[in-house]
Amino acid sequence: MNKYRPLIFSFLVFITAASAGFLCIKHCIGGHTAEERQALTEIIAVSCGFTGLIALALSVLTHFSLIKCEKLKAHAKELSEANRKLEEEIIQRKAAEERSANLAQEWARTFDSIPDLISIHSNDFRIIRANQALADFLGLKKEEITGRFCYEVFHGAEGPIAGCPNVRTMETKKPVTVELCNLKTVCHSMVSTSPIFNKQHELIGAVHIVKDTSELKKLEGQLRHAQKMEAVGQLAGGVAHDFNNVLSAITNYGYLLKDLSPGDPGHKDLTGKILSLAEKASHTTQGLLACGRKQLFELKPLNLNRTIKNIEQMLCNLIGEEIKLLVLPEEAELMIMADENHIEQCIINLAANARDAMPDGGELIIKAETAEMDAYFINSHGFGVQGAYALMTVADTGSGMDEKTRQKIFEPFFTTKEVGKGTGLGLSIIYGIVKQHKGYIDVYTRPGHGTSFKLYFPLIKKTKEVGSEK
Ligand SMILES: Nc1ncnc2c1ncn2[C@@H]1O[C@H](COP(=O)(O)OP(=O)(O)O)[C@@H](O)[C@H]1O
Ligand SMILES: [Mg+2]
Repeated sequence: MNKYRPLIFSFLVFITAASAGFLCIKHCIGGHTAEERQALTEIIAVSCGFTGLIALALSVLTHFSLIKCEKLKAHAKELSEANRKLEEEIIQRKAAEERSANLAQEWARTFDSIPDLISIHSNDFRIIRANQALADFLGLKKEEITGRFCYEVFHGAEGPIAGCPNVRTMETKKPVTVELCNLKTVCHSMVSTSPIFNKQHELIGAVHIVKDTSELKKLEGQLRHAQKMEAVGQLAGGVAHDFNNVLSAITNYGYLLKDLSPGDPGHKDLTGKILSLAEKASHTTQGLLACGRKQLFELKPLNLNRTIKNIEQMLCNLIGEEIKLLVLPEEAELMIMADENHIEQCIINLAANARDAMPDGGELIIKAETAEMDAYFINSHGFGVQGAYALMTVADTGSGMDEKTRQKIFEPFFTTKEVGKGTGLGLSIIYGIVKQHKGYIDVYTRPGHGTSFKLYFPLIKKTKEVGSEK
């Protein structure tokens, strides 16, 4: 309506001018000649018409300016709206950029926090990206790894190695997992590669993950060994149990026979031999029963310090003068729940082995101390239950053992000694005894550098010791 206001105004001016002209004409008409009247009328009509036309022109001009103004206003409004939208878009884009930067950082952090060695490879086996674990493992910066061929980085080879899972993934376009043992320093490793496709489902590369399984392999080995010991021990213990009964009968009949013919010396000699052989066999079966944990145990509170001190003299006699014995008990009491005879048997068997490993003399150290098994200990040793333990170390400076021997020493009847010298039961008996005390045994050895056995027994709270004085 606003834009028509000048038009209405000019129309009103026009009407007013016309009316004014008409009134002027009417008023001026009297007292003039016809010519004058004619001239006056023309002048007034022309001036009125002129005024009206000017008013009309002005109003038309004003009208169009107003329309233009309105248009400009609308345009300005549109512009400011567009501006507002643009600003909003900029804010949104900034937020999106921030989000994607955050996501990229989060992805990079996640990628770097994975302990497995991860790299992303292109179709031509070049490493495009590597995580921190891989960089640390190789002792290189990430930038020093990218761009290089994976076979060169992982195997120092000039082309893909035989059985390379990356090659198989490229061929089959499927994930592949293999166990490899020739990575630069990881002996046992699980290597898996998974294909990466683009939007068009074309293969553009592969994710390569190396998992260090050395620890797992070690634990598997320990588990297998424990299971084997359990099975062999049970079998040996079962056989020994029946065998022991037969031996008891043989011994009893032997004594009867001895009593029946007291006067005959030949007879006496023969029955004596039967009895001593039966006794020897009985020792073996006793050992087997210990391995199979079928022996009767009498667990009592025992101070391990005192036990090793008590047995010191006996050990001196056992190992001879060529070997120096050092007994180092802990100052504080080391109370464990144990069967003293069996603990002594462990020490004697270990000392006898140490003696055999030092034919030219050496040093034997028996040390008792406290030890704590925490999560770190259990993780690094692969055995144990958290808690406080009494640790007895029996170390010698003897021949030591190679890895192959070390792996078999706790197996019943395993011996490297010549026939008649070793029964192969000493350590398997110790193993059975330690297990029955809810303890652990560990061995450190190196050919030519001696051996030390570590026996862990759970400590108990301070309790009065029973009958340990010897
Ligand atoms: N202290 C040691 N030093 C070197 N080798 C040892 C030691 N203790 C045990 N061994 C090895 O472990 C094997 C098994 O020991 P063991 O079970 O006591 O049986 P045995 O003493 O009858 O051979 C031994 O034959 C020896 O090869
Ligand atoms: Mg032995």
